[in-house]
Amino acid sequence: MAKKEIDQHSGIETTGHEWDGLKELNHPLPRWWVYIFYACIVWSFGYFILYPAWPGITGYTAGILGHSNRNEALADVEALKTAREASAKAIATASFDQIRANPALLQFALANGRAAFANNCAPCHGTGATGSPGYPNLQDDDWLWGGKIDDIFTTIRYGVRSTSDQTRQSQMSAFGKDGILKKEEINDVADFVFSLSNPDYKGAGIANGKKIFADNCVACHGDDAKGNQDVGAPNLTDKIWLYSGTKEAIVAQVTNPRHGVMPTWEGKLDDITIKSLAIYVHDLGGGK
Ligand code: HEC
Ligand code: HEC
Repeated sequence: MAKKEIDQHSGIETTGHEWDGLKELNHPLPRWWVYIFYACIVWSFGYFILYPAWPGITGYTAGILGHSNRNEALADVEALKTAREASAKAIATASFDQIRANPALLQFALANGRAAFANNCAPCHGTGATGSPGYPNLQDDDWLWGGKIDDIFTTIRYGVRSTSDQTRQSQMSAFGKDGILKKEEINDVADFVFSLSNPDYKGAGIANGKKIFADNCVACHGDDAKGNQDVGAPNLTDKIWLYSGTKEAIVAQVTNPRHGVMPTWEGKLDDITIKSLAIYVHDLGGGK
């Protein structure tokens, strides 16, 4: 029988265990700790009974509450679907103004539009919608076919020079290829067009080019060369170019224009998606 005694140095009772003259002090666990420990054991039994707990050979004990994370997730998905259906229905019937005035609906449309843009439009317009030569930047406030939300909707729905019979349409003539203007005339008109956005440029053909422009180009690009959104003719006086702003690029465009094609999305995307896209693009920053 081990002998309990009071340790001289610390004044604490020993457990009576002694090894080679080293004695073990008696430090029992605090009561509160022991009670919590027992409570945990009781709790675990309750848990085993209520919740899925014991693995078996073909499955596990389900617990009398029948709880399952999987079913919970399924119910969440179902609830989300119902909420989405309601929003989608509201988008289908609401006007653009109504959608924009309703923050929840607007947010839904923007999220929907962003996803559809990444899937369908980013290959041509870029993931950030900043475009590349031939594919317009949709972030700026410079528009070929109009930056009002209805204009954008129409462009997306029917496309530009697309296969839709309601497509936006216009053809800049091939002034060089079809022999409408001579090489020197094209050079002069390019001098003039280049000078519009480069005021310091002193090309020899500017004066003559101005006349050629008035005779051949103003019908689409306007008297002031600021473009015309009815025919998708770009503003030629700013520094924003669909293709490129070098003089060589202008000569190339006048000689043999490219006639960019934007596909129609009618029939490929439903109206709710096209509406969401119009709102998303309009909201990118350049919408009028
Ligand atoms: C195959 C390439 C291609 C795809 C895909 C494409 N676009 Fe375009 N998009 C173009 C081209 C090219 C133009 C410029 C047409 C022109 O020269 O007038 C354009 C023009 C536009 C314009 C008019 C811009 C302006 O300045 O008026 C909008 C808006 C637009 N696209 C939105 C979209 C959206 C939204 C999608 C996805 C649903 C999309 N585009 C998919 C090629 C594409
Ligand atoms: C029938 C209408 C029409 C006429 C006439 C016309 N253009 Fe254009 N022009 C356009 C359209 C539309 C575009 C955009 C082409 C595209 O989207 O592919 C364009 C594009 C251009 C571009 C490219 C702009 C850029 O941002 O890259 C230049 C430069 C240009 N035109 C110059 C001229 C000049 C110079 C003339 C006269 C000699 C002329 N155009 C006559 C319709 C016209």
